[in-house]
Amino acid sequence: MAYLQLDNIQKSFGDAHIIKGVNLEIDKGEFIVFVGPSGCGKSTLLRLIAGLEPITSGQLMLDGKDITHIPSGKRDLAMVFQSYALYPHMSVYDNMSFALKLANVAKDTIKTKVDHAARTLNLTQYLTRTPKELSGGQRQRVAIGRAIVRAPKVFLFDEPLSNLDAALRGNTRVEIHKLHRALGATSIYVTHDQVEAMTLADRVVVLRDGLIEQVGTPMELYDRPANQFVAQFIGMPSMNMVDARAIPSFSAQTGGRLPSDGFLGVRPEGLRVHRDHHGAGAPGKVELIEALGADTLIHVEVGGVPLVARQNERTQLQAGDVVSVELDPSVLHFFNREGRTVAA
Ligand SMILES: Nc1ncnc2c1ncn2[C@@H]1O[C@H](COP(=O)(O)OP(=O)(O)O)[C@@H](O)[C@H]1O
Ligand SMILES: [Mg+2]
Repeated sequence: MAYLQLDNIQKSFGDAHIIKGVNLEIDKGEFIVFVGPSGCGKSTLLRLIAGLEPITSGQLMLDGKDITHIPSGKRDLAMVFQSYALYPHMSVYDNMSFALKLANVAKDTIKTKVDHAARTLNLTQYLTRTPKELSGGQRQRVAIGRAIVRAPKVFLFDEPLSNLDAALRGNTRVEIHKLHRALGATSIYVTHDQVEAMTLADRVVVLRDGLIEQVGTPMELYDRPANQFVAQFIGMPSMNMVDARAIPSFSAQTGGRLPSDGFLGVRPEGLRVHRDHHGAGAPGKVELIEALGADTLIHVEVGGVPLVARQNERTQLQAGDVVSVELDPSVLHFFNREGRTVAA
């Protein structure tokens, strides 16, 4: 049996049906990421698991126990929020020990646990400071430390990095990853950032409008998206999506595998841009070059359709150049009119 199991979980706020029936099984030790556009219900689903909102219908099981209607404090879960929600007038030590004090844990046990968490998070030298004497990244580590000392069965994170600047976000992401491995913890992590999802997750849950679109490892979602939504949500820049009828030469290049009324999906690295006429390539024009250093994005227009190609090599091409665009036949995706993936 799964460690954490969601059975047809639904949530309505008044008339608004927000979570529309979510089924999910999470194993002990997994790092699960909920990802999806803003407003799709990620935080709501996490809050239902945490017990911060009552579940309208469905069943939630943790470690063999039905916790659907158990109060938040008795669920053995710890949540880390985007806003650190630290007590501003308390020291780091007191912030981290607060929950244990409330639970009447013995003083020396508290000290052992806080000291251990502080060492794990590189916070030992800051234990006597107050939150305002810390950087954003250090504050977020205190918030995580506060969760660690409770030794919860599951860690719940709601966009914990979104208040940090880009460099710190990258560092803290790596730290959270290492921490998860070190603790052997089970974690659910909410983000709208697909790069965070791809880099942190054992399995990613893609949500849209209160329902799961697909669950899989990052590479499964990248290589075998179930539908157009997942295909275009995962991957940066987004997968190019071309109506089957828009570029006849592309249809020809797929060797008849493209459904005539469907869509062709091709990731930027699946497009080859050649100078001048080249074999079966479709004629196009360069609109913009973005040289990123390690790789180069070439924005081209083919038959009125804007496309993005990515290559590792630098390019001599310039905006306005006439080119021909070839597909890499091994990495094409085909979708029907309804946007569902069809076998290639
Ligand atoms: N307490 C609430 N009352 C009414 N509607 C809510 C409440 N909380 C969230 N919602 C609505 O539920 C939807 C999903 O919100 P949320 O879970 O915060 O999305 P996400 O975290 O994916 O951005 C939104 O349309 C939001 O307005
Ligand atoms: Mg949210």
